[in-house]
Amino acid sequence: MADLDPLSALAWLVDAGADEAVGEAPVNRLTAKPAPKPTDYLQPAPGYRPAPPPQRPAFTPARPAPTLAQQARTPAALPLDGDEIGTAMEIAARAQTLPDLKAALEAYDGCTLKKLATNTVFADGVPGARILCIGEAPGRDEDKAGLPFVGRAGKLLDKMLAPIGLDRTKNVYIINVLPWRPPDNRNPDPVEVAKCIPFLRRHIELANPDLIVLLGAVAVRNVMGRTDGIMATRGKWLEYHVNGRMVPVMPTLHPAYLLRQPAHKRLAWRDLLAIDDKIKSLQLLEPGSGNL
Ligand code: URA
Repeated sequence: MADLDPLSALAWLVDAGADEAVGEAPVNRLTAKPAPKPTDYLQPAPGYRPAPPPQRPAFTPARPAPTLAQQARTPAALPLDGDEIGTAMEIAARAQTLPDLKAALEAYDGCTLKKLATNTVFADGVPGARILCIGEAPGRDEDKAGLPFVGRAGKLLDKMLAPIGLDRTKNVYIINVLPWRPPDNRNPDPVEVAKCIPFLRRHIELANPDLIVLLGAVAVRNVMGRTDGIMATRGKWLEYHVNGRMVPVMPTLHPAYLLRQPAHKRLAWRDLLAIDDKIKSLQLLEPGSGNL
């Protein structure tokens, strides 16, 4: 190394990408320096003074969350400061009942989808039912009516549920991932979805189901975080963590998809039979209330 020709050393450095000199004075990097002993790193530099420990405020126990009625009296307590996802998380978490959550969703103005929708579509069926069906988003009929699954897909959903004893007027609760119709049924963008997810998760907690049916790929992706597609997940039991319990989840085909692909109704029928077995083994319905 010592007899390396300086010009060819420079050419090598230029080839390696060096394009400027960084120091005023040349440094001979070939002169060996003694390696520091490992413990040298641990020695404080001369003049070093340790920083004082951080001052923490005295411990105060968490206050109970104010009710929505209290919040309504103090609107400044919940400013919409641009962090709409954070705001959605906070007001969803504060809802203590399903009517609280409905009121919170109707008061929330952070999502563009809401501005373009006619109604907030919260839920249909029996609040607190042991079986919860989750769809994708309201369509035109649902947006008009303010209720989920009232159009053609909804009629087919009712027909799918009836043979296994499920009926939205008696023992099923029905919600969607999105409570607002995307205009012209376009795909919602990821930020729009992110603002709806805190309300969805709180909705599931407050509904506190014992069995969840996911209708279609959008529900599977946003409830279970699965991106492997509905054909890969349908018909297989998954589990959702709610209120300290693991609840069985069955993904199946969305009724709107089945209207377009009626040949796949036999796959959905198999999923419904599996749901029926689970309902019976967990005794989720009154004996004799099923039709099979
Ligand atoms: N499709 C859905 O996913 N939900 C509805 O409410 C209507 C159609």
